[in-house]
Amino acid sequence: MVPSTGINKVKAAVFISGTGSNLKSLIKFSKTKKSPISISLIVTNNSKAKGLDFSKIYKIKRKIFNFKDKKITEKKILLELKKNKIYIICLAGFMKILSKSFIENFKGKILNIHPSLLPKYKGLNTYKRALDKKEKYSGCTVHYVTSKLDSGKIIIQRKVKINKKDTPKTLAKKILKQEHKLYPEALLKIFSP
Ligand code: GRF
Repeated sequence: MVPSTGINKVKAAVFISGTGSNLKSLIKFSKTKKSPISISLIVTNNSKAKGLDFSKIYKIKRKIFNFKDKKITEKKILLELKKNKIYIICLAGFMKILSKSFIENFKGKILNIHPSLLPKYKGLNTYKRALDKKEKYSGCTVHYVTSKLDSGKIIIQRKVKINKKDTPKTLAKKILKQEHKLYPEALLKIFSP
């Protein structure tokens, strides 16, 4: 990845569908001197996403796209990304699967955060599945996005201990707390010379 300095941060877009707690942590990080990115666009497929509040709070441009026709929508998104000179995309709880051709357009520049220790538990319901398997640990992973779901090269992972009393809800909370630290760490890692 192109090295970036404090003065010359690369422009990032964050894609969300829900609460946006990772978006919030990324925004806070992006405002620090050491951050290689600045966030200039928030993209969502969900006009009711709670995370859109952060666009107001932090005065970051937002764009809502309905994915009725995926091909057309993705074209519109690509145009918007170009218009805003976006260099890197961070998926953060974005619930739509991007097409191969979209990903090709941003090859090696789309990241995602996933609440499991990939390659274990790709897809949804990761907490319940880890608990059902009586895992001792779960965690979170930041990885590059390829056209194969949750299968791109792993950038960084963080383990979280599972206790006997954990439920999907308590485990999700513990993992999310680590996610908020891990995404910024992943960005620092990929931009470090
Ligand atoms: C996180 O658990 C993330 O790993 C997954 O979706 C969730 C998004 O949470 N991809 P939030 O919207 O960032 O709070």
